[in-house]
Amino acid sequence: MVILEAPVSDWVLFFGHFHPVLVHLPIGMLLIAVIQYFFASKKSVPYVFFWAFISAVFSCLMGWALSQSGEYDEKTLLFHQWLGVAVAVLSGALAYMTAYWVQDVVMARLIKPSLIISVILITLTGHFGGNLTHGSDYLTAYVPQPIRGWVGMEPRAEQGSASEPAIRKIANIQTALIYQDLVQPVLKQKCWSCHNAEKQKGKLRMDSPEFLLAGGEDGAIIKAGFPEESEILKRLLLPESDEHHMPPKGKPGFTEEEINLLHWWLKEGADFKKKVKDASPDTKIKTLLARYSRGESSGPYLSPVFKMSISEADESDVKDLQKLGLLVNPSAKDQPFLEVNAVNAQGLGDKELEGLANIQEQIVSLKLGKTKISDATMKQIASMPLLILLALDHTNITDKNLSALEGLRYLESLNLYGTKVSDAGLATLAKIKSLKHLYVWQSKVSDAGIALFKKAKPGVMVDNGFKGKWPLEIDTVRVEEKSK
Ligand code: HEC
Repeated sequence: MVILEAPVSDWVLFFGHFHPVLVHLPIGMLLIAVIQYFFASKKSVPYVFFWAFISAVFSCLMGWALSQSGEYDEKTLLFHQWLGVAVAVLSGALAYMTAYWVQDVVMARLIKPSLIISVILITLTGHFGGNLTHGSDYLTAYVPQPIRGWVGMEPRAEQGSASEPAIRKIANIQTALIYQDLVQPVLKQKCWSCHNAEKQKGKLRMDSPEFLLAGGEDGAIIKAGFPEESEILKRLLLPESDEHHMPPKGKPGFTEEEINLLHWWLKEGADFKKKVKDASPDTKIKTLLARYSRGESSGPYLSPVFKMSISEADESDVKDLQKLGLLVNPSAKDQPFLEVNAVNAQGLGDKELEGLANIQEQIVSLKLGKTKISDATMKQIASMPLLILLALDHTNITDKNLSALEGLRYLESLNLYGTKVSDAGLATLAKIKSLKHLYVWQSKVSDAGIALFKKAKPGVMVDNGFKGKWPLEIDTVRVEEKSK
């Protein structure tokens, strides 16, 4: 096939786009003619073949027009093209043969084999045509798992949705290749289907570094070091309604994290060999990298607590607490975990909250901000084994019993905003292994104390009010997402 260098006329492509619709005519007519010949009256067969021939010729012309877009894999296209031409020629020949050869004893013998060949040809043409538009794995993409096992196919890749891309565990994230291990899997999942060996929409292939660097019909798509000027990223950032947005409407797009990742790689020089340890990630990327090294799937992080099976709280105990004005709600659908929030019961103190002991096995989130509790309540809190989130902000809590929290094995978020906790208390918290977020803004904690704490627990995000907005939504999301 000759690829025209001059821009293809709209007329050509306009007609070309009718090809996929029109091709069904010759296919249908040819099959009907064959069936008629074998099983019904042969009388009208030559007419049907004649029209199959005419429509096949038009299909070929339109197919040729469509191929001018240059978006298709050349080799597959060549097969498809010449098989299509063969089908057209053979249907013309069959129109003639079935009209004039049936009487002739010798020639008539050629008809049946020719019919069978025509069916084989049209099947192959259709198959290659399908591969051109849908990719060569179109037919086999949904082979069910048991059959895959029998015939030795690879298990089907998880179909990622836009909201929850699969994050594979990368054991040694430091030596991982930014492109190959982090960026490419996303491109593969979300872009390759239209930019690959078989299909090159916008004359762009993305399935190897060379092709990425070669760019598409409008030139380079990567400007190393300048993410904002790289077409590959610009397309992702366009509003989804924009016709140039990638991927096109209806296809799962990049998540914010994946966009950040691509941005980072471009900024780091779009280097296909660069390792994570040789690049400088910002906080956002660091958080994401940490998730890769833990193999956590994206989307809301879920505490291991939610994988446990526990017994249900007594309904009357829950009712009693609700009577005090506490909000006691299930944290997860179909699971008995509970969240307790004192937002409407800020007058409550240590004594009134003793009832929490009855549901201490079920509480995963406890928000006692602005209540009248004192250090005495700390002991009670310490006996809530599954606590993930604890908010004690604006209470009279001090360092005194803070060390009681050491035993909370799943505590991830602790809010001590506006309390009297100081550096000494902070130091005891370093023993909580699971801790991820700590809020100490407007407490008695000093910058030096924070620095010391961070040295002991580098993984913990300590919020002392200087960066980010308050309250940081992230923790509430993590427990509350689960309830949806
Ligand atoms: C459903 C098919 C489809 C998918 C999936 C898809 N694209 Fe495209 N892409 C196209 C089409 C069609 C064009 C040509 C029209 C245009 O330029 O908008 C194109 C063009 C482009 C171009 C411009 C090439 C040039 O030089 O003109 C870039 C860059 C691009 N795509 C990037 C991506 C990225 C990144 C992804 C993955 C998020 C992606 N595409 C996924 C169909 C697709």
